[in-house]
Amino acid sequence: LMKQEIEHLRNVIRQHEYRYYVENAPIISDQEFDALMHQLIKLEAENPDCFDPNSPTQRVGSDLAQSGFEQVEHRYPMLSLGNTYSEGEIRDWYNRVCKDLGVVNDSQFIEVVCELKFDGTSISLWYENGELVRAVTRGDGVRGDDVTRNVRTIKNIPLKLTQNNISQLSTLNSQLNVEFRGEILLPWKEFERLNAERERNEEPLFANPRNAASGTLKLQNSRTVAKRNLIAQIYNVQITDNSSFLTPHSSLLETHSSLLQWAKQLGLPVSDTTRVCKSIDEIMEFINYWNVERKNLPVATDGIVLKVNSLNQQKNLGFTAKSPRWAIAYKFQAERALTRLNSVSYQVGRTGAITPVANLEPVQLSGTVVKRASLHNADIIASLDLHIGDMVYVEKGGEIIPKITEVDNSQRKADAERVIFIDKCPECGTTLVRIEGEAAHYCPNEIGCPPQQKGRIEHFVSRKAMNIDGLGSETIAMLYDRGLIHDVADLYTLTIGKLARMERLGEKSAQNIVDAVKKSTEVPFERVLFALGIRYVGETVAKKLAAAFGSMQALSVAKREELIAVDEIGERIADSLIEYFDDMRNMQLIERLTSFGVKMEGKVARAELSNKLEGLTIVISGTFEHHSRDEYKAMIEAHGGKNGSGVTSKTSLLLAGANMGPAKLEKAEKLGVKIISETEFLEIVK
Ligand code: IVH
Repeated sequence: LMKQEIEHLRNVIRQHEYRYYVENAPIISDQEFDALMHQLIKLEAENPDCFDPNSPTQRVGSDLAQSGFEQVEHRYPMLSLGNTYSEGEIRDWYNRVCKDLGVVNDSQFIEVVCELKFDGTSISLWYENGELVRAVTRGDGVRGDDVTRNVRTIKNIPLKLTQNNISQLSTLNSQLNVEFRGEILLPWKEFERLNAERERNEEPLFANPRNAASGTLKLQNSRTVAKRNLIAQIYNVQITDNSSFLTPHSSLLETHSSLLQWAKQLGLPVSDTTRVCKSIDEIMEFINYWNVERKNLPVATDGIVLKVNSLNQQKNLGFTAKSPRWAIAYKFQAERALTRLNSVSYQVGRTGAITPVANLEPVQLSGTVVKRASLHNADIIASLDLHIGDMVYVEKGGEIIPKITEVDNSQRKADAERVIFIDKCPECGTTLVRIEGEAAHYCPNEIGCPPQQKGRIEHFVSRKAMNIDGLGSETIAMLYDRGLIHDVADLYTLTIGKLARMERLGEKSAQNIVDAVKKSTEVPFERVLFALGIRYVGETVAKKLAAAFGSMQALSVAKREELIAVDEIGERIADSLIEYFDDMRNMQLIERLTSFGVKMEGKVARAELSNKLEGLTIVISGTFEHHSRDEYKAMIEAHGGKNGSGVTSKTSLLLAGANMGPAKLEKAEKLGVKIISETEFLEIVK
């Protein structure tokens, strides 16, 4: 009976998901939806035997890391499409199709389905008995990676097929085996949000939504995937087993467009932009319309796909070695402009990364004047074989900054000078290094290189760090260039007398700066730690570290495994910390800051409720009924305990919720870690 109730609730939620994510027409509020979901989580937690990987509750993903992906052979190869940038070739293709099908001029028309070509990463979704069983990437076209657990978090992909019949919530077509193919996309808005976050964390940016989507799909941690808000668009249906399948309409199996419609009824996201065209003029109209209108879409597109609608005609046309004859892609011409490369300059960022920049003869490109273009790194310069004075094509494409995509060699002068990547830092002359596996060159002179040091000081005084008002980037540059400050500790040696010698700085501002610097000694330790600008130590990480170690002294001597044992601290962060504290110059800087009264210890301010969990490292796993995971994490800290990220020999307790991963459980049992339930935990901290 309970099983039935749970399954009913799941279906109700699925219907609402469909209305929200596929139809964009919800009929209940977000709050009401959350309440239903909450109820389901509760019921599932109470009835672990009703677990179902395709329950709507499973969309949050899991943070149990998955190691690698299983390779799966495709049921039939994932082919690519022939493509062209020319309307003339589209006409040629249409004429050839007509000819091959024996259609004489104008006596008949061939129906062609026009679809947008979504620019993401392709996916194959296998449904058996109406349920999602597998999601496989394209891979090499013959075999791909099984990324099912990541795909389960994509909210507009139904985990179970339902017929879109509002009065009827039951799941139909339970006998059906079908494969859908489509594209996984990261909407522009999410792409921008993700890149802004990565910029703050000093992580490499994604060049475009396509790379971001495919990178996300290959993440080991499906909970991170869930947070990225990927979406899917389906463009192909293949019924893999129709023996037990009764078609609702007899014509269903005759055309591509009816299969798409049917997919939509089953709950799959099928774009409304698709049109069945009945002449070459209609096709051209579609192309011209979307060539402009695509700029208003929430996702990236790179062209139009044309497909012969009749499946019978598709069969007659067949395939070439690489692609179907019944389909072709028309690719949008990225807007580009031809201009001259005047020079290349090199910028040194706060992290020491060198960015080559092309200085161009100003040129108009999609509404703005372009003067500079990113050249990314040495490899890109080499592959373009750039020479000063070259006529180059610049494009805006999916990237944020325009880039050079092509060089017009024909206009190159014989004595043109080849662009060779610099080997010394343009700011401090230090020989550049290249970290293995990375494309960028770095200036390793972190402490002596002016832009790196100025950037550090700017970060140190920023609002979320030491919050020292009155020191803008210009003032910092001026103080640095005049030799008044060389590093962040020197800020504490500034006096009104020294500052007043600067032109443009009145006595009042000088006083304000000195006061603000003095006041910064009250800033809590966790923000001091963030202010140092240690690579990968952002605000959140600094908080976690401060809470776990309590002082700079303790943190600076912490061993790698002690660092990794802290919740959310991984190897990359641990290594960066170790490297930082290994450098004597950093230790001296910390000593000087300490001598000026900067706070180098103190637990994160929090409402301390008790010390019942003092000295215990607790790992949380699974889903809970009474509180969210974050609430439990906060509770553990509020009672003096530490949150651990993975089960190790140092783990004191494992707080186990429903649907906990078997690997964690097994490890805990093997190491003899005590496992407690949600109720037991609440009893302890009551
Ligand atoms: S049909 C055999 N339709 O573009 C037919 N593909 O080079 C195979 N794509 O890898 C594809 N939107 O990932 C088709 N409406 C659409 C598409 C589409 C995007 C991608 C797909 C494929 C590539 C084709």
